[in-house]
Amino acid sequence: MNKAGIYIHMPFCRVKCMYCDFYSVTDRDEAMPTFFDSLIKEIKMCQIDTKSWTIDSIFIGGGTPSLMSSNQLESLIKELDTKFDLKNVKEFTIEANPGEAPEERLKSFKSLGVNRVSMGVQSLNKSLLKFLTRIHGKNEVLKTFEILRKVGFDNINCDLIFNIPNQTLKIWKNDLEEVLQLGPEHLSCYSLTVEKGTELYKHVKRGEIKMPSNDNSSELYGYTQSLMNDYGYEQYEISNWSKPKLECRHNLHYWEIEPCLAFGPSAHGFDGKSRFSNISNLDMYINKIKLDKSPQVQIQELSNKNYSNELIGFGLRIKNGINLNKISDELRPNFENILKNNKDKWGRFLIKEDNHLRLTNEGYAFADAVAVDFLL
Ligand SMILES: C[S@@+](CC[C@H](N)C(=O)[O-])C[C@H]1O[C@@H](n2cnc3c(N)ncnc32)[C@H](O)[C@@H]1O
Ligand code: SF4
Repeated sequence: MNKAGIYIHMPFCRVKCMYCDFYSVTDRDEAMPTFFDSLIKEIKMCQIDTKSWTIDSIFIGGGTPSLMSSNQLESLIKELDTKFDLKNVKEFTIEANPGEAPEERLKSFKSLGVNRVSMGVQSLNKSLLKFLTRIHGKNEVLKTFEILRKVGFDNINCDLIFNIPNQTLKIWKNDLEEVLQLGPEHLSCYSLTVEKGTELYKHVKRGEIKMPSNDNSSELYGYTQSLMNDYGYEQYEISNWSKPKLECRHNLHYWEIEPCLAFGPSAHGFDGKSRFSNISNLDMYINKIKLDKSPQVQIQELSNKNYSNELIGFGLRIKNGINLNKISDELRPNFENILKNNKDKWGRFLIKEDNHLRLTNEGYAFADAVAVDFLL
């Protein structure tokens, strides 16, 4: 049986953050009811055959899913349950923004089956949060975390960002330690990326904002790795740490190239053969569905070679490594050759065990460069 997940994209936000290129809209709350009607219709229209799949994760991301009402979530779950076999779902995550997830709503989310919350903390530092144009402060983070525990969530992730201009090691240490004191089960620490089309990109391009140097970023990353280890978290992906056995199943589906259904504007999915993505425009998404049309704008069948390259690229990012058994017999000799040719360059950062090839913790910092050399 193929392990699989379901992703739902909720595209509404209170403000657009200057660094974010995830698809989202602001000041469009009036469109929320129509959006949910469309989402439910999109699920009804789905023709992917999931009979041979074991769906074990649901992830509602955004945007800001914590803005949805419990009634909206209830009707969404009802439709998913009618259409798919959800009896094996072990992990049901919703993203929540600090200060934008009231207690009553979180309580009903929990009673509807949500068992994991991913909170976008980003930073606790007042001036960095201002730089990132976030509308929350440290108090909202602490309060939302407290509410999550009170309501009974025992699997909480906090997203943090490093590599922010003017973020010294001291500031990062303070943020990280304060978040670790809260004791979340999972932490994602992302390096701030300058994505095209964002306000950050424009400022960097015009020379108004200078991003930190690679040395600076490596120092913060190295510190993160050792502190997480001291606190008993295991690094299971370049940017992700968890308490034992609490890795995010849903993200592992992406990294292990397993199927994932995807609904909502801009959502990306994989049916085991082809990758597909929905239109990144709320009104066009709604209109297409109104006309009984699919909101998909891109469908690309993964060739054997592309599938293997994805296995390699993502495999280098995770603790489980590249599952060599999944690389086809036809391409395996080619890959073995590549490994042999790169032994001197990358050999000391690689470990081969049980037909899996993975990077050492030290090697994670070079994952992108190794992937380039390992492409088939
Ligand atoms: C879908 S986003 C946002 C979730 C939620 N709306 C929030 O803002 O907290 C998920 C995570 O991606 C990370 N992220 C978004 N844009 C990023 C960027 N340009 N560089 C690094 N991390 C980014 C943030 O840590 C964020 O919490
Ligand atoms: S970072 Fe989160 S809150 Fe900010 S625009 Fe992106 S999705 Fe919305």
